[in-house]
Amino acid sequence: MTIFNLGSINADLFYALPHLPKPGETLASTEYSRGLGGKGANMSVAAARAAARAVHIGAIGDDGRWALDRLTEYGVDTRHIVQVDVATGHALILVDQAGENSIVLYPGANQAITEIQLTAALSEATDADLFICQNETNAQRMAAEMASAKGMKVAYAAAPFDADAVQAILPLLDLLILNAVEAEQLSTATGTPITALPVRDIVVTLGADGCDWHNTDTAQTLHIPALPVTPVDTTGAGDTFTGYLLAGLDQGLSMAESLTRASKAAAIMVTRHGTADVIPDLKDVLDSGL
Ligand code: RIB
Ligand code: NA
Repeated sequence: MTIFNLGSINADLFYALPHLPKPGETLASTEYSRGLGGKGANMSVAAARAAARAVHIGAIGDDGRWALDRLTEYGVDTRHIVQVDVATGHALILVDQAGENSIVLYPGANQAITEIQLTAALSEATDADLFICQNETNAQRMAAEMASAKGMKVAYAAAPFDADAVQAILPLLDLLILNAVEAEQLSTATGTPITALPVRDIVVTLGADGCDWHNTDTAQTLHIPALPVTPVDTTGAGDTFTGYLLAGLDQGLSMAESLTRASKAAAIMVTRHGTADVIPDLKDVLDSGL
């Protein structure tokens, strides 16, 4: 089966800093690198590294050929990535010594997804396939409608958080993935506790505290503890978790098994500088001893 991912593709520009800058402060960066990123691309690469089939639906500018080549090299199906007349999305990522980050995002080409493109990509999907999107492209709701109409399972990672976007897509979801801050923001926006939302499976990632899975059919919550690692760069860990989670479900693992494997992949990810380029493969995860 296949994971169809409508998602962003960014150039990630990393700057290592002694601390995150304050207003008016000029800071010298001790280290700079450029890599492949975007929440969407990170998820597709994670799914592919977990040995799942991932079809990426996205857009780049004429400065983004390298990103497409890299996605292909990493095993992602790139046939439904289009090239448009807008600069490729990029993210300026500031990382402090504790591994915390601040990100400035330029969406660019990521906002140029068209209905024709979605129709073409999803015409290849069946009801055995999974659909996922996040909030760094346009057209999530339209795509989720198409996927849902095909009988696909629809997953959504509510990042970066946008109360209107998540509420618009909510009725179409089988699986919602969000972090603790996003969960708080969503329950404020809806006036409802997260566990009362009309989505069958809700996963809340809690960083160093692991994650919670709530199943609304059984009204049960399962807590998966985090693994003890020393973070150097948390960027992309959530995306890695989500990509691995989807891959596990696609491969027929149970939710609990998929979450456990995803937590290990995310734990490894926070010990590495960078995003899509350094997502661990299944062998790294299984051999990690975590
Ligand atoms: O979640 C991390 C990602 O957020 C980075 O790869 C960056 O591109 C931003 O989209
Ligand atoms: Na990282």
